[in-house]
Amino acid sequence: MSRITRRSFVQGSLAVGAGFLVAPRLSLAKSPNEKMGVAVIGAGGRGASHVSAYLADPRTEILYIVDADEKNGQSKCDAVEKKQGSRPKFVKDMRVTFDDKAVDFISTATPNHWHALCGIWAMQAGKDAYIEKPVCQTIEEGRALVSAARKYNKMCQVGTQCRSSKAVQEAVAFIEEGGIGDVKFARGLCYKRRKSIGALGDYPVPESCDFNLWSGPATYTNPKVTREKFHYDWHWQRHYGNGDLGNQGPHQTDIARWGLGVNTHPQGIISYGGRLGYQAERNDPNYVDAGDTANTIVSLYDYGDKFITFETRGLSCDNARDEELNKLFQSNSGNKIGVVFYGSEGYVCQQSYSHCVAFNKEFEVIKEFKGGENHFGNFVDACYSRRMEDLNADVLEGHLSAGMSHLGNISYYVGEKNTLPVEALKSELARVKGLDDNVATLERTVQHLQDNGVDLEKYPISLGPYLQFDPQREIFTNNSQANELLRREYRPEFVCPTADKV
Ligand SMILES: NC(=O)c1ccc[n+]([C@@H]2O[C@H](COP(=O)([O-])OP(=O)(O)OC[C@H]3O[C@@H](n4cnc5c(N)ncnc54)[C@H](O)[C@@H]3O)[C@@H](O)[C@H]2O)c1
Repeated sequence: MSRITRRSFVQGSLAVGAGFLVAPRLSLAKSPNEKMGVAVIGAGGRGASHVSAYLADPRTEILYIVDADEKNGQSKCDAVEKKQGSRPKFVKDMRVTFDDKAVDFISTATPNHWHALCGIWAMQAGKDAYIEKPVCQTIEEGRALVSAARKYNKMCQVGTQCRSSKAVQEAVAFIEEGGIGDVKFARGLCYKRRKSIGALGDYPVPESCDFNLWSGPATYTNPKVTREKFHYDWHWQRHYGNGDLGNQGPHQTDIARWGLGVNTHPQGIISYGGRLGYQAERNDPNYVDAGDTANTIVSLYDYGDKFITFETRGLSCDNARDEELNKLFQSNSGNKIGVVFYGSEGYVCQQSYSHCVAFNKEFEVIKEFKGGENHFGNFVDACYSRRMEDLNADVLEGHLSAGMSHLGNISYYVGEKNTLPVEALKSELARVKGLDDNVATLERTVQHLQDNGVDLEKYPISLGPYLQFDPQREIFTNNSQANELLRREYRPEFVCPTADKV
């Protein structure tokens, strides 16, 4: 379908010089026979899924591919040209697309450290925004992003696609209707094997990459990075990523909150864990992996009358001894990524993005939920309807779910040096309020580490402080060091505004 002439719907815009933004542009609803102009920002692994989704949607045309790394960007332009017929423009600097009124929305799959600033700049310039999870790198950024969406009245969808999954939607509705009785506790699991990313060292940045733009609001370490593989492995370095608690995690933290009907931040958080097992994996007691996020972390979240336990395991789970979890996932396979809801009359297990199962107390299946999603399509629907309530994953949900990852990581980071023997950990965790058996979860985690050859005397587990959080003011009330991690410093060109300044 060829591109249809666009109606000028932009009013009151100011010229935007290289990203120094801006007065809001007021958008009117587009008629369904006008195509939406799209800029895909961040054309790496996940960017490919964004591209495929818009190529498959007759209502959209990809006008720009933006990537700080020209090699990644140009290869996506080639792929788009083949399918779309027209070649999108390639640019390295996202700010070019914000200045172009032909762009209706941006869809971003940059590394995490860019998400909030990219979204805020785009919405200030009058664009709607689809933003990958986690939507922010700090709690302060998440709040600012929500404020920007509200202030500029923009559609802002988060890339937690399970919100659009038929299976998960129906399973959550079943829980809400009392299908497994009273539900106050959920356990999220991210048991996903992640091997070492290589030794900490000095490695070059690819020549095709503009490292100033790539780094953006994060620390600038020009001319080197400390990881071997430049792309993707930033996930395991805390300047840019959030470990698997903040990578795979936000899908499951989101489902856990959703199913429990929790629409706020927790009021208490504690984490324990470490970056463990790579010495055994490499058979070298002195091996130092380049990642500095936890590969094994358990975070406990207190919502007053409801609780969530979130378990992240990066080492092999092949030796799957967790019998109850094996029953609920109907699988003895170690890798388990999902959420279990514990009700007074049974369980619901989200086993995959498109399959959930309800059980009675005897672990007999009482209902199954199946069906996939078109999350990008849902976003495009809302861009036409201009109704925020049409979005399946509004930015506020993204902020609260990313927030769980950040709050869990903050407890870990603050307590990183507080390593304890297992017996001491047990007595500390026995004192933590909750609806779960915290000591049993610790014991399963310890077993898992030992199964992977971790010598817990030499490489002990760290215990973070129990952090009290004020969900309204979004600050910790008992730990100033933790409060410092709710925000970060920026280089002058890449300052993410706070909520009151968007
Ligand atoms: N929703 C999902 O299921 C899902 C799945 C995978 C990844 N993701 C998310 O997608 C994001 C990207 O992950 P990935 O695996 O594709 O990482 P990646 O490293 O493969 O790709 C990131 C791309 O962004 C580019 N980039 C960096 N800075 C940029 C900038 N300023 N402007 C434009 N491009 C820039 C990089 O050069 C790279 O090509 C992450 O936030 C991740 O959490 C979501």
